[in-house]
Amino acid sequence: MKQITTIKEIRKVLKEEKKKGKTIGFVPTMGYFHEGHLELMRQAKKLADVVVVSIFVNPIQFGPAEDCKRYPQDLEKDKSMAQEAGIDYLFIPSVEEMYPGELLTYVDVEKLTLPLCGKFRPGHFRGVATVVAKLFNIIQPDMVFLGEKDYQQLLVVRKMAEDLNFDVKIIPIPTIREEDGLAMSSRNVYLNSEERKASLVLYKSLQLAKDLIKSGEKDAQTIKQAMGELIRKEPLVSLEYLSICDTCLLDELERVEKEALIALAAKVGKARLIDNIVMRLN
Ligand code: PAF
Repeated sequence: MKQITTIKEIRKVLKEEKKKGKTIGFVPTMGYFHEGHLELMRQAKKLADVVVVSIFVNPIQFGPAEDCKRYPQDLEKDKSMAQEAGIDYLFIPSVEEMYPGELLTYVDVEKLTLPLCGKFRPGHFRGVATVVAKLFNIIQPDMVFLGEKDYQQLLVVRKMAEDLNFDVKIIPIPTIREEDGLAMSSRNVYLNSEERKASLVLYKSLQLAKDLIKSGEKDAQTIKQAMGELIRKEPLVSLEYLSICDTCLLDELERVEKEALIALAAKVGKARLIDNIVMRLN
C-alpha cells in the first residue's frame, strides 16, 4: 500500500494505473475505520482493479457548533487496517492541500439536501458535495463505494455525480451493524456504556416500524408515533427527527405502499447518531 499526501502525486500514480487499463475503485472516508469502512473496502476490492481510500476530515462539512477538530482520529491504526484490507493507495491530504486558498466555489445539491439531516445541519451537504466533487476530480474513479447508513449523503452524491456528468458508478453498500444491532459509526466512540446501551433503542424503533409494516400498518403517522413513544422511554436519547419518506426524493410519505425509507437521527450524550432501513413491500 502506498500512502500519498499530495494531489499531484495521486494524480500521477493513478494516470499510470489507467494507462495500464486498470479500473479505479474509490472509498472516500474521514478515517477512524471500523467494520463498516472495511466492508466498503472489501466490496471495492471485489469490483475494481485498483482501490484508493481517502482519509480527510473535511472542515467545510462541519457547522460552527460541530467541532471538526474533535472528530475521532487514529491515523496509525487506520493505516494498518487499510494495509491489511489490501488497499493500493491511501490518500491523506492535509487541509492546506485540499483548500490552499479561500474557497469561492461550492457544489450545492438542491431539494435532496433540505429534509432530514439537512434541516438540522445547515451547510453540511454543501460541504460534502463540494469535497466529494473535488475528490472525484482528483481521483477520477470508475466506481465509488458509499455506505447506506448515510442514506441521504448517498442520494446527494449520486445526484451531484449525475448532474455534473462525472463518469462514475456510485455503489451503495448495506449498513454494517454491531451484534446487538447498533449501526457502526466512528461516532459510537463518544458513547459511554450507559449511552451505548440506551442508543440501542434507535435500532429497536426501526425494527418496530418494520414489524408494524409487515403486520399491515400503512399509516406513516401511526408508525412514527409508535417509534417516537419507544424512543422517548430512553431519557439519554434525544430524538432529532423521524422520517418515513420516498427512497429517491426523500418526500415524506403519508402511507407506506411499496417502498419507504425509515430514517432517524438522535443525540445520545456527545454523539449524534443516524440510522435507517429501507422497506420494500411486494
Ligand atoms: O461519509 C463521510 O465519511 C464523509 O461525509 C465523506 C463522504 C468522506 C465526505 O467528506
